[in-house]
Amino acid sequence: MSTPENIHTEFHRMLGRDAKEVQLRQRGHVFWFYGLSGSGKSTLANAVERKLTERGILTKILDGDNIRSGLNRDLGFSDEDRQENIRRISEVARLFLDTGMVVFTSFITPTRDLRATAGEIVGTDDFTPVYVQASFETCAERDVKGLYAKAAAGDVKHFTGKDSSFEEPTADDHDWVISTDSKTEQESIDELLERIIPLIELTAKV
Ligand code: ADX
Repeated sequence: MSTPENIHTEFHRMLGRDAKEVQLRQRGHVFWFYGLSGSGKSTLANAVERKLTERGILTKILDGDNIRSGLNRDLGFSDEDRQENIRRISEVARLFLDTGMVVFTSFITPTRDLRATAGEIVGTDDFTPVYVQASFETCAERDVKGLYAKAAAGDVKHFTGKDSSFEEPTADDHDWVISTDSKTEQESIDELLERIIPLIELTAKV
């Protein structure tokens, strides 16, 4: 770890986020999609990204399996590793946000504490947690990656929803809830776009 007294951060001379948002004609924001593996986080993030790109919005998706095969390849699924996973991703999301970009993250983020940490690092004004809800049974039935079958056979350690817990949001969290259990993919996409667009229009700020 670096010694804090020998670190001299260099933020004050940098061109600010406002200037970049004017250049991009959009307002940066982080939409933090979370939920069980297979709940539909990545599917929705990708579909919404394409729609926003058609409207000229610059976006970036940060996705669990991708980040875990690069930046966070040293991390597993213990509580400590999940915490470090989310901490690093939150810092990366903030870097994109500082460039005025609209960021979609797609990570299980299983606990309320982890979601709160992400919000603190990104900054709560620019952070919207989006719970992509689907029951464990629905996700196990979809089993796109075959992980639920492996977990049932005892071949995946710390599997979320089985031997590692997942905390649902409470009403106090005010998180957006998109239920892929009860809605079609198109309905979920439409609802997300309707709620996202007002937050990323530049006029929302000035
Ligand atoms: S998080 O809990 O730290 O937020 P993250 O979203 O990065 O998890 O990674 C989850 C992805 O890793 C899942 O979508 C799945 O493909 C894969 N994975 C591998 N092992 C596990 C496990 N034990 N529990 C959950 N997901 C796992």
